[in-house]
Amino acid sequence: MNTWLITGAAGFIGGHFTHLLARTLPGARVIALDCLNYAGDLVHIQPLIDAGRIVFIRGDISDRPLVDSVLRQHAVDLIINFAAQTHVDRSIDAGVPFIHSNMLGTQVLLDAARQRSVERFVQVSTDEVYGSLPLDQPQARFTESSPLAPNSPYSASKAGADFLVRAASITHGLPVMIARPSNNFGPYQYPEKLIPYFVMRLMQGQRVPLYGDGLNVRDWLHVQDNCRALLMIAQHGQIGETYNIGADNQITNRQITQVILDEMHRSWDESVELVADRPGHDRRYAIDSSKLRQTLGWQPQHDFDTALRQTIRWYRANQSWCQNTQSQGG
Ligand SMILES: NC(=O)c1ccc[n+]([C@@H]2O[C@H](COP(=O)([O-])OP(=O)(O)OC[C@H]3O[C@@H](n4cnc5c(N)ncnc54)[C@H](O)[C@@H]3O)[C@@H](O)[C@H]2O)c1
Repeated sequence: MNTWLITGAAGFIGGHFTHLLARTLPGARVIALDCLNYAGDLVHIQPLIDAGRIVFIRGDISDRPLVDSVLRQHAVDLIINFAAQTHVDRSIDAGVPFIHSNMLGTQVLLDAARQRSVERFVQVSTDEVYGSLPLDQPQARFTESSPLAPNSPYSASKAGADFLVRAASITHGLPVMIARPSNNFGPYQYPEKLIPYFVMRLMQGQRVPLYGDGLNVRDWLHVQDNCRALLMIAQHGQIGETYNIGADNQITNRQITQVILDEMHRSWDESVELVADRPGHDRRYAIDSSKLRQTLGWQPQHDFDTALRQTIRWYRANQSWCQNTQSQGG
């Protein structure tokens, strides 16, 4: 497994994964494929491109002739598919781009991988495919055998992709694995997602909009812990298996907003505006990652509170990145 194709490498998690791969496996050839949609930004991986450490190709994963030529020309052994439309609110406004990238794009990659006899195919899915847990059952967690019950067009398109990956495995024997991480946080996340968005608005003297009662629970995972898990799965995971990735950091949106306000020395009353809830808003996510921990020995390395505060400080110190990214994006 010497040549890796990373799709969505110009995005938040794909960018961190590309750096980890380049650092951890210096002998690996790394091909990065990304269409550079509004969330794609080369700033994070540009040093690797400039150093000749990775090859960057701008293109859409749903473009079969392009994907065929990339796999053939670079003799790709392993594909890890990060490329996706990822923002739930955008999927509520318009679902078709989500079907295009997340389902059609995944199917094209699967077909091309089968034709080229790729050795491993890792699909980066999400805990959101499991739907929502109730607040009054605090012990409940999603396991890999929980039923898929997606509630947003985004999560439905990701669940659809998971079924396509499963079908490619069962029907065609394609060597696939599925990873389902929880909510990621860390530097270089497009500033439409909660942490960078709230920091940016506060820096600009604006209020932050908090959905509904703010009691929705998310299970947070540092992006570098996620990427280490994904690398372990890609290298040592069992073909045909699905792995949840989560660090057991479940807090409400109210609590995370309070940490951001504390870090930025702002008061709740002056800075928070409760807005109408997101339609279909999942109440609680909580992910059981014991399979990954027990079979591959993964452990998160980041302390949540420390890493969260460091992340907030990173966005404060990198406002120009946020503004440039947002002005180039949609
Ligand atoms: N961010 C999270 O909290 C989180 C949690 C769980 C799972 N995931 C999954 O991880 C993956 C990466 O998420 P992210 O947060 O880095 O997303 P992101 O939106 O920051 O990046 C996605 C990247 O994919 C590219 N892309 C989109 N459609 C494409 C297409 N058709 N062809 C080629 N490139 C395309 C974009 O240009 C962008 O660079 C996604 O599959 C997402 O569903 C994300």
